[in-house]
Amino acid sequence: MTQSIFACVEKKPDDPILGLNEAFKTDPRENKVNLSIGVYCTEEGNIPLLNVVALTEQKLLDKKEAHAYIPISGLPQYCSGVQKLLFGEGSEVIASKRATTIQSLGGTGALKLGADFLSTILDNPTAVVSAPTWQNHVAIFESAGFTVGSYAYYNKEQGCIDFPAMVASLEGLKENTVVILHACCHNPTGFDLTTEEWAKVIEICKTRKLIPFLDIAYQGFGNGLEEDTEAVRLFAKSGLQFFVSSSFSKNFSLYGERVGALTAVCADEAEAARVLTNLKSAARANYSNPPKHGAAIVATVLNDPQLLAQWHEDLRQMRVRIKEMRTALVKALKEIGASKDFSFIEKQNGMFSFTGLTADQVQRLKDEFGVYAVKSGRICVASLNTKNVEYTAKAIKEVIK
Ligand code: LMR
Repeated sequence: MTQSIFACVEKKPDDPILGLNEAFKTDPRENKVNLSIGVYCTEEGNIPLLNVVALTEQKLLDKKEAHAYIPISGLPQYCSGVQKLLFGEGSEVIASKRATTIQSLGGTGALKLGADFLSTILDNPTAVVSAPTWQNHVAIFESAGFTVGSYAYYNKEQGCIDFPAMVASLEGLKENTVVILHACCHNPTGFDLTTEEWAKVIEICKTRKLIPFLDIAYQGFGNGLEEDTEAVRLFAKSGLQFFVSSSFSKNFSLYGERVGALTAVCADEAEAARVLTNLKSAARANYSNPPKHGAAIVATVLNDPQLLAQWHEDLRQMRVRIKEMRTALVKALKEIGASKDFSFIEKQNGMFSFTGLTADQVQRLKDEFGVYAVKSGRICVASLNTKNVEYTAKAIKEVIK
């Protein structure tokens, strides 16, 4: 017998987020709580089918369309809808046609298309991510051939953004470094930059000739769909060239449909057209062309005033419930006399809270209480509900004793 060609293959560790989600499913404990993966769950603990999605799917079904291939760059009305959502109708970026958008397989797919394209035009491609960040940022850019470093962002001791340190990091970067920024609802910390801080970051990107790459995976979960585009719109006004990766996994609750988009904001229309041909060739070599169903839902909603209003309402309800759960968790921790003040949880934005729990405490939460969180201490507050919040608070109280 010859030795198997796979004999030398070593086991890779489970994904730090998706691996926990898998482990949670097989945990037999009835009172288990999944605060690991970033998904919004209802008060009943389920991933919702949004009203707007149910209505739109019915409309699409009634059309009885065949399942034809869609263009490599995706549905045109989807791509134009994404631009309107990002920059606002009538914005200079849209009117001048210097932005180009390609549909992608979720936000991850958008990041990968951008990274693949950039790796073809940069010498020694280098990217930096915030410390900390969503771990997949590092994996995606490394897999596209980048060397990935980090810039200072969060001060663990003080539990807030360390903006002077961030500025110092960014000012020390080499020209053409790709800077991955969280446009809103920073994952994992939940702390976002102020308007003035964004302006400073833009100034540094200009003077140091950096390449901004804004990841907006949680649009609408911070302060609102329009409000959460503040950073994107400031970059658009600056005249810089930059990328935006969008995701509709969370804000449309379309996780499994993989609906995302990459937008490249270029110098002018002709440049945007050339960039698009390159993004299309990256897509073609990876998966040929994107899936239709999820993008058709989003495109229909973004181009129909009534459905759009319904989406705003569905999203508002999710946003309000998340904020209520932040308050409920802080209250429960206070009432049971937790040895630490957790009021900072109410100041964070989006789905996540960076609790400050250590890796050991997170492990104990899982082992002793069946409460799953990410090793960094990140919990998904959007998966809390009135039935599990007190149990979660008690578990946290115990492990921080
Ligand atoms: C998360 O951060 O939990 C989500 O974005 C899901 C993922 O793909 O990691």
